[in-house]
Amino acid sequence: MNSTTIELKKQPLAVAAEPAIIEFRGVEKTYQLGTQQIQALKGIDLTIRAGEFIAVAGPSGSGKSSLLNLVALIDEPTKGKVLYDGTEVEKFSDNEITHFRSKKIGIVFQNYNLIPVLSAVENVAFPLQIQSVSKTDSIRRAKLALREVGLGDYFNHRPANLSGGQRQRVAIARALVTNPEIVIADEPTAALDSKTGMDIIELMQELNGSKNTTFIFSTHDTQIISKVNHVIELHDGLIVNA
Ligand SMILES: Nc1ncnc2c1ncn2[C@@H]1O[C@H](COP(=O)(O)OP(=O)(O)O)[C@@H](O)[C@H]1O
Ligand SMILES: [Mg+2]
Repeated sequence: MNSTTIELKKQPLAVAAEPAIIEFRGVEKTYQLGTQQIQALKGIDLTIRAGEFIAVAGPSGSGKSSLLNLVALIDEPTKGKVLYDGTEVEKFSDNEITHFRSKKIGIVFQNYNLIPVLSAVENVAFPLQIQSVSKTDSIRRAKLALREVGLGDYFNHRPANLSGGQRQRVAIARALVTNPEIVIADEPTAALDSKTGMDIIELMQELNGSKNTTFIFSTHDTQIISKVNHVIELHDGLIVNA
């Protein structure tokens, strides 16, 4: 594999002046497993600013998924505060949480989570149809999003007829089609070979640059980590590289 062809852009310095969209203050996450308590996050402080491109690194079990689930509002902290746009998440109503999750957040999964019976364009249009966008409009926007991830020739392919890398591109298009502020991806490259995985990270970084969408993703691939400026390194539930 020729790693010299991979040119990930350096993060613009201006990002430091961007507003914080997400803040963690003393965040802890403890799971109850029968009588056992598992402390997955042990006091996390972090700030995610608009337009950032962030990798969450760390070995298996270090708390990456727990952290990303809190960023994605899929879960709530046991202790400490998560703030979105300066407001504590625990003060949001259920409606506000639903609004944030459908309008402000895009999620990409390790195993793509595409709907097998739908074509690529129908998969990407799906989140818009849930938001009651008209069929014509949602298909038009889905096609635009697929072109942005390099799949302009694959509108009518079903997931089974796409490669792993192409499926993950469809999933990224689906995450972006609603124009979210932040895309959260938990090990988006774990099911891919290292070259395809690096292509996916490079695509996310291009989209971060062209659309200014914030990205946060987890990985334990050291080659990927070496290409990213902002790395949050977790070990045993704590950030170790702050
Ligand atoms: N739902 C759960 N119930 C109990 N323990 C969990 C649960 N989710 C994660 N854990 C535990 O929390 C710790 C951190 O897990 P996780 O956040 O999944 O780490 P990573 O994504 O880095 O592998 C691990 O010890 C894991 O076993
Ligand atoms: Mg995980």
